[in-house]
Amino acid sequence: MDYKITVIPGDGIGPEIIRETRKVLDALGARYGHNFSYTEVLMGGVSIDAHGVPLTDEALSTAKDSDAVLLGAVGGNVGTSNWYSLPPNLRPEAGLLKIRKGLNLFANIRPAVLFEELKGACPLKDEIIGDGFDFVVMRELTGGLYFGDRWTKEVDGLRTAKDTLLYNEEEIVRIARQAFEIARKRRKKVCSVDKANVLDSSRLWRQVTEEVAKDYPDVELSHMLVDNCAMQIVRDPSQFDVILTENMFGDILSDEASMVTGSIGMLASASLGKTKLGLYEPSHGSAPDIAGQNKANPIATILSSAMMLRYSFDLDMEANVLESAIKEVLKKGYRTIDIMSPGKTLVGTDKMGDLIVAEI
Ligand code: IPM
Ligand code: MG
Repeated sequence: MDYKITVIPGDGIGPEIIRETRKVLDALGARYGHNFSYTEVLMGGVSIDAHGVPLTDEALSTAKDSDAVLLGAVGGNVGTSNWYSLPPNLRPEAGLLKIRKGLNLFANIRPAVLFEELKGACPLKDEIIGDGFDFVVMRELTGGLYFGDRWTKEVDGLRTAKDTLLYNEEEIVRIARQAFEIARKRRKKVCSVDKANVLDSSRLWRQVTEEVAKDYPDVELSHMLVDNCAMQIVRDPSQFDVILTENMFGDILSDEASMVTGSIGMLASASLGKTKLGLYEPSHGSAPDIAGQNKANPIATILSSAMMLRYSFDLDMEANVLESAIKEVLKKGYRTIDIMSPGKTLVGTDKMGDLIVAEI
């Protein structure tokens, strides 16, 4: 089969980790008779430098026209990069918001898995880790504070700013359904996270989630307040299977969730909508401080491409092969610097890609 992939290397370490991911995909394609064709487009800082905007309409329509989008990372160093003296709607991250909205990718899935091989890097105490944990954060991605009305102006002589957190029931229903569907393929537990003791939008969220749950009697639904959830993730992460939450809470909780695994360089993410077209990117950022030094860990991006094989192309077997190849390389003791520990073999970005290819 032929698959059209829009590739967005982006900024910082993006190009290096994407290069390795393409290498691995090509090896898989050659082995199993698939043809992955790539169209590269610019997004983020590199697009600002070339076109004055973080994502052009042409780049967006290229993405719309493909079977999946594979993204490295966007953004630079907020303290030093000129990109951040631009108005907010022209900064690198605005490209990301535009593509999420433009492709209607309302569901963002970020797995938080403790890799057996990398247990040592987990910042939690052994008694908390127990037998490990494996949950996903299902974050609403095209609504809430990120896309609500906002303004900054002077009111009564004071500089004043306002953001709006708005959800309608339809937006809640579709993300809740995704969460229940995913839970069905996992341990059948959805924990919906909100701030229903304060926010109207959360009270609606809770009500609608309860309604959707009626269609999934085999899945257990619970509710948790977001502040408590932040605490529970470090107190006992193994209690979670699928965490369902709105955009801003999900942004914060998914960073926390990735941190407790101790290996953010290993965590993938998928953004999905109503169609098969999804966007796949690592959970980590563009790490401008190590860009171009062959130090970045490409595994999160390669694992994201496994999610692409699974969710956008229905190539489950190939996705499994890829994930096993990565585990094998780790088992043999190869590590990039971010996951290095005594007695293991340190390798660079390109070597890590080669090692994974060799296992395919
Ligand atoms: C993420 C990032 C983005 C977000 C930023 C870069 C706009 O933090 O993907 O989690 O807040 O969604
Ligand atoms: Mg974030």
